[in-house]
Amino acid sequence: MDKRYVKLIEALAQIRERTSFVPKVALVLGSGLGGYARNMEVEAEIPYSEIKGFPVSTVQGHDGRFLFGTVSGVPVAAMKGRVHYYEGYDISDVVMPARLMGLMGAKVLFLTNAAGGIDLSFSPGDLMLIRDHISSFVPSPLIGPNIEELGTRFPDMGKVYDPEIRELVKRVAAEEGIDLKEGVYLQATGPQFETPAEIKAYRLLGASAVGMSTAVEAIAANHMGLKVLGVSCISNMAAGILDQPLTHAEVQETADRVAAKFEKLVTGVIKELGEL
Ligand code: HPA
Repeated sequence: MDKRYVKLIEALAQIRERTSFVPKVALVLGSGLGGYARNMEVEAEIPYSEIKGFPVSTVQGHDGRFLFGTVSGVPVAAMKGRVHYYEGYDISDVVMPARLMGLMGAKVLFLTNAAGGIDLSFSPGDLMLIRDHISSFVPSPLIGPNIEELGTRFPDMGKVYDPEIRELVKRVAAEEGIDLKEGVYLQATGPQFETPAEIKAYRLLGASAVGMSTAVEAIAANHMGLKVLGVSCISNMAAGILDQPLTHAEVQETADRVAAKFEKLVTGVIKELGEL
């Protein structure tokens, strides 16, 4: 059996020793949603560090743990803190937590992140529904022998971000009075921010926003048959758009500033996902 799959099954067994929780929705909490637990009835928590073989995030402000509980009665497994490729992990470790939530029983993976705005009509603080992604600048999480237990060798990526769920998100945003942009997310490896020339190139390629996570998680989830949705908080305008240096502090500040709006959207969407 593939050693990456064995690692997953062993991690799942460790979780099952502690909780029999079965999520419907798997939620990855990006920058700004670190306090999302206040919207959950948390039934169990497991720090990543207590799961043997689990990748543990090293970035400041990325506290790593699973939260299991309900949001408006819908069972949710949430990842508070994710692992990024730029931290030095194998790409298969980067997607391990998302895969694990799928193996726990989640049907939908809800990805959130902070991203730099490339589309000139965006402003910092906007929320962007991910319509599609460009992952061509990062390694595929599916490289290596195919894990047959999870999915097929050559998965279709024509509709990674489920069209029906995208409509649902737009409807919830409209009902809540939340202005929601929509666009294409491009994943770069980081950890350095991009150069102005890179951002110009990415815009020509059709990207609306750039970040350092998410697309690989979406690929891994799609591979194993989960439905996927993603929302980015545009935390800053990408390099070269404004004449100011980019900092992690700006990303965090904007994400924190719009946390209430972001939380409201996420909660409204999860409630609706419970009906699917
Ligand atoms: N570039 C890459 N990743 C990011 C950015 C950015 O400008 N902002 C937040 N995450």
